[in-house]
Amino acid sequence: MITALTYDDVLLVPKYSEISSRKEIDIGNDLDDCIRLELPVIASPMDTICGPEMAAALSRSGGLGVIHRYNSIREQANMVSYARDILQQKQERCIIGAAVGVTGDYMLRTTALVTHGAEVICIDVAHGDHLMMKEALTDLKHEFGNSVHFMAGNVATADAYKRLCDWGADSVRVGIGGGSICSTRIQTGHGVPNIEAIRECALVEYDIPIVADGGIKTSGDAVKALAVGADFVMVGSLLAGTTETPGDIVGIDGVKYKAYRGMASAEAQTEWRGDYSFAEGISTRVPYVGDVDAVLATIKGGILSGFSYSGARNIQELWLKSEFIRQTGAGQLESSTHILNK
Ligand code: XMP
Repeated sequence: MITALTYDDVLLVPKYSEISSRKEIDIGNDLDDCIRLELPVIASPMDTICGPEMAAALSRSGGLGVIHRYNSIREQANMVSYARDILQQKQERCIIGAAVGVTGDYMLRTTALVTHGAEVICIDVAHGDHLMMKEALTDLKHEFGNSVHFMAGNVATADAYKRLCDWGADSVRVGIGGGSICSTRIQTGHGVPNIEAIRECALVEYDIPIVADGGIKTSGDAVKALAVGADFVMVGSLLAGTTETPGDIVGIDGVKYKAYRGMASAEAQTEWRGDYSFAEGISTRVPYVGDVDAVLATIKGGILSGFSYSGARNIQELWLKSEFIRQTGAGQLESSTHILNK
């Protein structure tokens, strides 16, 4: 049995650097030949993370937001239009993603989303290494060819990554059960710690972009995900509690909160499907933290600094130069702001 590591198990070794200013660093990456993300951050297609406001904010910042699919086709298509209209009126960068499932209305939904201006369609299912993914992806690629970018997932192994690429995926989400609101590993015993999952997929000699998804708690984790081989990071909890997430601010005992929940939580399933069969996620609330622009600026600053510590001017140099070491429990403690434990 191999030992599989994740973010807190590892650190990046600081490297010799000739970078004198963070302006020399380009953290952007190409999603495909036509779409480049200057900020390699993608907002999760969750109903408490990405609606039109979040998608617009991510586009403006150089990243990508994937509008969730837990709604009618008309509602989701209107969200895509709304996000575009905000951005186009101000003549700002406009790249919008939207999610579809692998059963039922995925063809009609994709057609409506693309007609309303979505350029990235995320085929969004918990276990992407599945016949239903193969059928949906094949159908969609047959219909839309390369005119639309299809992001598919989630997977957690090299073989699954290869399969999704072979079925036509333009990018692949890697990570199962590591998300902050996930209970898949607890309920089912399945999953792969995320550093290992990304590392294995990145070793495959395919150049289809890898989107590291789930469990990224800090900008430092994002740097580790990129350094071990991801092209982009997808985040939920890092953006939760911001103004742009769907849903109202709730005041409890003088403190402001917003909801954050797994899409397989009992609460989310009940709201969108009328009932639930088996929950693989939880529902919670997080403190309200203000506008997402400030959060994204902090994430961007951390990623820029991370590249600088590895002496890397871009993602290709990061992949070449980065060296990981494993840390012990004492190392993890030392790596935290441990004065706070006193
Ligand atoms: P973070 O850690 O960024 O994770 O909050 C977000 C990712 O978690 C996944 N997701 C789920 N996984 N049960 C799961 O096992 C769920 O209910 C659930 N909802 C979301 C998803 O990949 C997301 O991007």
